[in-house]
Amino acid sequence: MTHPNPLPPVRRAWWRDAVVYQIYIRSFADGNGDGIGDIAGIRERLPYLRDLGVDALWITPWYVSPMADGGYDVADYRAIDPMFGTLDDADRLLADAHALGLRVLIDIVPNHTSDRHPWFQEALASPPGSAARARYHFLDGLGDHGDVPPNNWPSVFGGPAWGRVIEADGQPGQWYLHIFAPEQPDLNWDNPAVRAEFELILAFWLDRGVDGFRIDVAHAMIKAPGLPDLRPEHVTGEPLAPGGHPHWDQDEVHEIHRAWRRVLDRYPGERALIGEIGVDDPERLAAYLREDELQTAFNFAFMGAEWDAPELRSIIDATLDANAPVGAPATWVLSNHDATRQVTRLGRSFTGLRNRELDDLLTADLALGTRRARAAILLMLALPGSAYLYQGEELGLWEVEDLPESVLQDPIWRRSGHTIRGRDGCRVPIPWSGHASPFGFGPPATTPWLPQPASWRDFTVEAEMADPDSMLRLYRTALEVRRRLPGLRAAGHEWLPSPDGTLRFRRGDDLECAVNVSADALQLPVGRELLVSTHGDIRRLPRDAAAWYAAREDA
Ligand code: GLC
Ligand code: CA
Repeated sequence: MTHPNPLPPVRRAWWRDAVVYQIYIRSFADGNGDGIGDIAGIRERLPYLRDLGVDALWITPWYVSPMADGGYDVADYRAIDPMFGTLDDADRLLADAHALGLRVLIDIVPNHTSDRHPWFQEALASPPGSAARARYHFLDGLGDHGDVPPNNWPSVFGGPAWGRVIEADGQPGQWYLHIFAPEQPDLNWDNPAVRAEFELILAFWLDRGVDGFRIDVAHAMIKAPGLPDLRPEHVTGEPLAPGGHPHWDQDEVHEIHRAWRRVLDRYPGERALIGEIGVDDPERLAAYLREDELQTAFNFAFMGAEWDAPELRSIIDATLDANAPVGAPATWVLSNHDATRQVTRLGRSFTGLRNRELDDLLTADLALGTRRARAAILLMLALPGSAYLYQGEELGLWEVEDLPESVLQDPIWRRSGHTIRGRDGCRVPIPWSGHASPFGFGPPATTPWLPQPASWRDFTVEAEMADPDSMLRLYRTALEVRRRLPGLRAAGHEWLPSPDGTLRFRRGDDLECAVNVSADALQLPVGRELLVSTHGDIRRLPRDAAAWYAAREDA
């Protein structure tokens, strides 16, 4: 006698082990030939992403924006910038992606608006003390003439975090806070109107079918009461004790995330929140992942790690240990639109570097960086949790460090007095096909908004698909194996003994991963089927190599 199975099939929430592909929209694919990536371009390339084997996309801000910071300065959270398309295009993209089984996360920027946002324009036109100004942080200056900023906080992009406005009488007046660029005034999250507005914005997009949000600087919204000065050593960058910074990681910020989670939980379909949270302390980071807050947060410690076996191992352990008590998955990432591309970073003698001020001082060995990037992705995709890929890393693209100064657009370049080039080098439009720029990024006559290196002719999707040893083929194979083996998704993680300078671990019954970070050679166990390898069918891994192989001997 057969019984119908009374239990629904056991399925883990998708965000626990999803591989998410980050689309930096300006630089992914240009559908109309104006040199700037757009929604039409993304729609054309969805089959590529499905075939790559990712589960979801994260699209960087596509809202109406004057682009003072590449779209992280939003003037209208409910409309698409005409440069990227229309709301109808966004709806079509969501429908197309879902039809292909791809989820879509969008970026939400709650810490600040654009200075062109109607709220900020209204604040400028309103007097000190008005309700319009109370949506931001407007204060009188210090000193006899009020010409000293209200406190000594520096802007992340250089210079002071305060801008002074001209009042209705034509005289310099109050100051407003901008932790990032002057075109990005910080919202006052103590104001209930601000909180209410963002909950409505979330609902607006959830109603349209987005699967969740990547929250920009999700640890920044709350400022310590009274906006106290930083001690001088902290102004120049010396870290404060965990939780002690007046505008990062204030405890009250968790309330906002709880409220947002309640909004998401009203919707069916496992909508998810991922935080961009620059908090180093693993426990304080894990606090954002409590059951009623965000589901996931980027693990930037892993991205900033030295290419060094003990350091990698201790970061992996610290992450897994800190996340376990809150039941949250780890979220691994090797690069994004703010970080130096890993082929370049790992090609340097000091690889943990994310500090762009020093980038110019160290040359990169791109061949070495490429070998390490291949090993690093096999390490990352074998770890338990979810993983984020940044467009172009699957092609092995490097940081374009020789962009002419005249084309640089990152506000960091201007704000640093032209001393720090900023992040444009990881944002160059990616190459798809052909032998010359625009390499299929847009229609043939397109001039991409940042120039592409001629040598990218060998790094197009088309060229790499034809080469079994390419980075793209390695990513595709690894993602295919990851989808096929349940142990790689659900099982725990267990370190196995391995020589100094190497890492070896098992994931359930399915798979073991071995990484030779810095030893002369690493011998794989005999009699195991090789599943993926950075170096083809060899059993002695050289330095900077990695492999996945069956956890059991061949039957
Ligand atoms: C985040 C974004 C970055 C942006 C900043 C300000 O760090 O990733 O690109 O410049 O927030 O919004
Ligand atoms: Ca375009």
